[in-house]
Amino acid sequence: MGKYDFDEIIDRRGTASVKWDLYGGDVLPMWVADMDFKAAPAILQALQKRLDHGVFGYPLLGRRFYKAITDWFKERHGWTIRKEDLIPTTGVIAAYSACIKAVTKPGEKVIIMPPVYNCFFPAVRNNRCVESRNALVYKDGRYSIDFDDLERRAAEPDATALLLCNPHNPAGRVWTREELLRIGEICLRHDVFVISDEIHCELTYPGHDYTPFGSLPEEIALNSASCISPTKAFNIAGIQIAAIAAPDAQRKAAIDRAINENECCDVNVFGVAALEAAYREGGDWLDELRVYLKGNADCVCGFFKEKLPGFPVLPLEGTYLMWIDCRKAIRPGEPSEGFSERLATELREGHGLAVCPGTLYGQEGEGFIRLNIACPRALVEQGLEKLRLCLANR
Ligand SMILES: Cc1ncc(COP(=O)(O)O)c(C=O)c1O
Repeated sequence: MGKYDFDEIIDRRGTASVKWDLYGGDVLPMWVADMDFKAAPAILQALQKRLDHGVFGYPLLGRRFYKAITDWFKERHGWTIRKEDLIPTTGVIAAYSACIKAVTKPGEKVIIMPPVYNCFFPAVRNNRCVESRNALVYKDGRYSIDFDDLERRAAEPDATALLLCNPHNPAGRVWTREELLRIGEICLRHDVFVISDEIHCELTYPGHDYTPFGSLPEEIALNSASCISPTKAFNIAGIQIAAIAAPDAQRKAAIDRAINENECCDVNVFGVAALEAAYREGGDWLDELRVYLKGNADCVCGFFKEKLPGFPVLPLEGTYLMWIDCRKAIRPGEPSEGFSERLATELREGHGLAVCPGTLYGQEGEGFIRLNIACPRALVEQGLEKLRLCLANR
């Protein structure tokens, strides 16, 4: 065993947890993207210290806050962020929504790559924009980008932004530097601003390094804003804290204005304490977590290979969200449309397992489910058995 005990089962029922308390009862929740592990001791200590002070007035974000971010990205990912390019905000959804607002006008098109994180869709609509769907291509058990289609969409005069998910939820892809460069070049050529959601950037597995979009060559980086946060990787999502890195001064000013118009510039004191502790002292916890999560992913792949070989599980390059092709379970004569939803309901109501139906991420996800494996391995094993009972008996 390592220094941290990721096998510990912590009862989260009755803690006002959306993951555990929405369905309640005996349902094992492997759906929404938070983890069932305790946060790193360094974060717990920092929060405790802040709590013990007893006074929780408005925070002033000082040098320590910005330096925690810039040092982390420089040391961990080789990306130099200038302090003056950073805009703190309450969360990553608030961050990318403000970016959309800043760089588009109502009625314009925002390109997205479905199947993609469900909250991308309302963010486009809430900013009175229209989605342009550059669907990912699923071939030989892996997703890739349709660059020809991206070029066509970017060339449309009313396409002004691309909302990128790097790494991609739910496809599990960690985009390579080459792929990101191609995206960057296409968007630059057609004056499409890239908004890169990098909330999953710390959760990558051997052989798949995260490339920050902002670390690409200057011309491409200047045409982008990156939304970053420690909340996903350090399991502090309920605390809510994030930042936008916008290296182009004019764009940064426009995003700053949008953040103010949306009234999401004031962050909470616990978010500040947690972010600083995560980025300053959380590295070794995160490294152990990634090994543990890789073990969980291998366990899922091994199980499917042995017990459910007809159901492809996509290789997990990043995130802790596994994407499983369940189309083999469609019964003869059963319509494929609506299958993901029916399967998710059947799993929950008939087998006590909550997963996300693939169509939550766009109709491109029909036939798939998304499985959150960020929990003690014993729970992963329980979930797999429930999946087997359902899929094998359909
Ligand atoms: C890609 C992506 N972006 C953003 C979020 C949510 O970010 P926040 O809670 O900081 O608004 C999630 C949560 O699952 C996510 O997967």
